[in-house]
Amino acid sequence: MLHDLSKTSSILSQFVSELRDVELQKERMRFRRNMERIGEIIGYELSKQLGYTKVPVQTPLAIAPSERLAEVPVLGTVLRAGLALHQGLLNFFDGADVAFVSAYRKHRADGSFEIKLEYVSCPSLSGRILVLSDPMLATGSSLVMTVKELRKQWQPSKIHIVTAIGCIPGVEHVTKELPDVDIWAAAIDPELNSKAYIVPGLGDAGDLAFGEKVQY
Ligand code: URA
Repeated sequence: MLHDLSKTSSILSQFVSELRDVELQKERMRFRRNMERIGEIIGYELSKQLGYTKVPVQTPLAIAPSERLAEVPVLGTVLRAGLALHQGLLNFFDGADVAFVSAYRKHRADGSFEIKLEYVSCPSLSGRILVLSDPMLATGSSLVMTVKELRKQWQPSKIHIVTAIGCIPGVEHVTKELPDVDIWAAAIDPELNSKAYIVPGLGDAGDLAFGEKVQY
């Protein structure tokens, strides 16, 4: 199921707009912070679907009825581009266990690429809720590969994918391959270009957050 948060205008729209803006996005700290704020807002929206336990709390004056999260989800992210979005989720899910996955595009001389999944650092996911963040849901191939790889080892009780900007072909691919996964997006764009970048998108999220890398 797709949760497209751009369907409701909110301050989230401003953070996405600033991420996309070719001038504003040059300010690296602002770019990272906006990505982090998007992680916080999506984390809040997603939290409405989690389970809560009623806990009476002693205030200085009386007992207050309250609720606490029944189960803290495991937060997984894709290195390196996912780090700022992931930090936003981590800001709200205190004490979450964290999974890191390195999935990247290994480019060939002709400009095509294959997805390489090389490093997985993960707690047990058996019976647990996994929230997997990736700022750009482009082709969706790396997310599908990551989820399939993790499911060889563990059966999470539920998987949520969190992205800042997704696109229609990517969402369709993920939904076809992983029909039981929920996708949370701050925006959904129409298409990909020939290099599999989201259009209009924002460019390269990893480079904007951390600087250009050398391809080797
Ligand atoms: N990764 C990015 O950083 N941007 C895209 O548009 C697609 C993948």
